[in-house]
This record gives sequence, structure tokens and C-alpha cells, in this order.
Amino acid sequence: MKILFKNAEIVSASETSIKDVLVEDEKIEKIDDNINEKADKEYDLTGKYLLPGVIDAHVHFRTPGYEAKEDWKTGSAAALAGGVTTVFDMPNTKPHTTTLEALAAKREIVARNAKVNYGFFFGGEADNLEDCKEAEGIVGFKVYMGATTGQKALGKKDNIEDLLEDLFANTDRVVAVHAEDEAIMQKHAEVYQGDHTAEVHSLIRNDEVAFTAAKKAIHIAKKYEGRMHICHMSTKKEVELIRKFGGDLITCEVTPHHLFLSIKDYSTHGNFVKVNPPIRGQHDQDILWKAVQDGVVRIIASDHAPHLREEKDVDYWKAPAGVPGVQTTLPLMLNAVNDERLEIQDVVRLLSYGPAKLYGVQSKGAIREGYDADLVVVDMNLMQQVKDKDMKSKCGWSPFSDMYLKGWPEMTFVRGVLGMENGRIVRSEELEGKEVVVS
Ligand code: NCD
Ligand code: ZN
Repeated sequence: MKILFKNAEIVSASETSIKDVLVEDEKIEKIDDNINEKADKEYDLTGKYLLPGVIDAHVHFRTPGYEAKEDWKTGSAAALAGGVTTVFDMPNTKPHTTTLEALAAKREIVARNAKVNYGFFFGGEADNLEDCKEAEGIVGFKVYMGATTGQKALGKKDNIEDLLEDLFANTDRVVAVHAEDEAIMQKHAEVYQGDHTAEVHSLIRNDEVAFTAAKKAIHIAKKYEGRMHICHMSTKKEVELIRKFGGDLITCEVTPHHLFLSIKDYSTHGNFVKVNPPIRGQHDQDILWKAVQDGVVRIIASDHAPHLREEKDVDYWKAPAGVPGVQTTLPLMLNAVNDERLEIQDVVRLLSYGPAKLYGVQSKGAIREGYDADLVVVDMNLMQQVKDKDMKSKCGWSPFSDMYLKGWPEMTFVRGVLGMENGRIVRSEELEGKEVVVS
């Protein structure tokens, strides 16, 4: 099967250029000024951008164990609709992906159901070093310094240093940390226990909670020269840490909800914007945007964490934290380009090239000859409202609903197969997600 894209403005992490692109089966075969080969399908992309597919390096597709919230069919559909061709799944499923058996079982289910490409995080815990050492093919380890949805914090108080030291010394993958300090947030939870408004979430898990954990993690990573990644960085104080200590060894990611939502949204959304780490005030958000713009932040990932409406629609203390996002990340960032907050190349840098580089993913994250044909056609002029009814996630809602966004993915190709066209999932029986190869 050959697909020819004519007159596409192809986007890399640093520039754009108008070219023809020939795809043969799963790969990008040829990129040139004028390709006249006969193809099975030809698209004239005049006026459109062609981007490498988005790699969302932080999703919770809930399988196994929480399939009522999401499964790989609905999760993949949400990804395709959002121009996402690869996702990395987190280990807080049931059972946790912290043993070789659990990893093998998850691999087996996902291989049968994924319509987008994928990678797995393996949970690093106090007592599973042997399994961590043997967990092959994973994209990285995930370590929870504080408790979050479906996940306890590490048991004994100070074993985080031992755990990180062991992982750094015995394995060679990135260690991604959920940096929130358990002891401080427990103290805050006591102070606010009589308060039932969702706002209290940002007070309990305040910037000190994030900063204290991030500082500790960075200190340990520096000491052992470990490769560490801070997930969902959300505060000015953490940005300052990363500005000082970040680099190739210590990296960070930011989520769209921390860039586009703030504590003002509690009044209208309540628990539907309850997420860990919590949404912040305007000042933190401004500082995050600056760090995204100037390159201190290497990737944007959605932390897609769907929960059903009825689970959210309860008392603050009973509602699970987490918001869906895999479908809306690219449109939000494209809208930011139209708003002149970013260049289109920044979108590729943060959503495709950055994650591929950071996690050592082979043959993805750029439009290059020989690379996988994971591609997204983008229409920068399409203005559309985010609507709950259009969300493909099983949860069926979005914290960004009602926003008008300009710039949307129009077609998504996964290794040469068209899986989404104008918001509709197509040919899903032909699509097959494949586990990424990392080095
Ligand atoms: C996540 C979930 O629901 O799995 N929730 C969240 O608030 N982000 C867990 C996590 O990543 O912390
Ligand atoms: Zn998460």
C-alpha cells in the first residue's frame, strides 16, 4: 500500500518545509520536492501541516482492573481523534504493573486491543528490584513518592533514596517520579478535613508538597547520577529547581491541564478538575508557560486519567483525582500556536520529537525517510468547540469542554493506516498498535 502526500508543510522540532511524502506500508519511504510515483491513495495537503504523530508519554488506560473507566478500544479511539499515535501506559492498574507476571499479562491484553502504538512503565517499589532488573522492553520506571489514585505512596518513610539508588545502579531506563510529599500532604489533609469544597485540593497538595518531593528526588538523582524525569510539573518552585539542576539527566514534563486550567475553574467544575498534582494559580501557570516556551520543559504529556461522571459527582473527599486528556492535548497546543504563544515547531518538539528522544524511542517522533509512518494532518484554520459528546474516552467528558479551539487534527495515520478522519474513527479493524522499541 502506497500513500502519497502532495504539497505538505512538514514540521520538525526546529523548522517547516513544503514537500511531498511517500509512505509505503508502515514506513516513510521518501521525502522530496516533487514525487510523481503512482500511489494507491493521494492526498493534496496544500495549506495543511503534516506532523509526526503525537507520543503521549503519560496515560492511564486502566487495563487491567479498571475497564469500567477506560479500555484500550476507547482509549485508542480518544488517542486517534487527538492525533496521538503512541501512548505510554502507567502502572497503577489492578494488579499494579510491578511484577513480571503483571507486565506479561498487560502486554498480552494490550497487544490484542491497542489501535495505537504503546509502551509500558513498570512500577518501582520497595521490594521488587529483581523484577525491575528483568523487566524488558519497558519505556521507564514509575515511582510514586506520594499516594495518588489507585496507588499508595512508598511504604516506609525514607526508603525512597534506597529505591532510587537501586534503580539507578541496576537498571538503565528513565525513572519517572510522581513528586508529591506524602507526609506534608497528610498534615494538610488533617487541617482541612472539615472542608468539603474541591478548592481545598490545591491547598492540601500545595506547592510545598510538590517542591519538597521534587527537591528530594533531584538531590538523590544528582548524588547517584541517575536518569530521572519529574512527571506533571506544576509550580513555579519546581520550575526554579529544573532551571538550576535540569539537563540531560534530570528532565520534566508539563500537562495541558496545568497550562490551561487554574484554581478559578473549581467554581464551575468542582471535582471534575480534581487532579494530582492539583491545578494552580495564575502565577504558577505563567511561569510554566515560560518554561514550556523557552525549552526548559522537554515534553508535554496528558496524564490522561479518566474517571466516570458518577465517581466524580460525589463529596470532595470521595471523588477520585484525575482528568482525561489524550484527545485534547494536540488541539489545545495548536490553539496556542494560533494564539501566538508557541510556534508549530514547538508543538512537534514538545509532543513528538521530545518524548521520542527522552525515552529513546526508535524510528518515531519525526518525519524522516525510514521512520514509522505515524502521521497527523493538521488544519490550523478549523475552529471547533470541545464537546463532551465528542469525547471517545469511556468517561465521556472533558475538563476542557465548551472551549473554542482553533487548529485540529484532520487525519491520523498509525504506521501507514488511516485511523481517524474529520473526528471519526475509520478502518479500526485494520489498525494495529505495536509496542515501541526503545534504546
Ligand atoms: C491518576 C489516576 O487517576 O490514575 N490521577 C491523577 O490525578 N493524575 C494517577 C496519577 O497519575 O497521579
Ligand atoms: Zn498519571
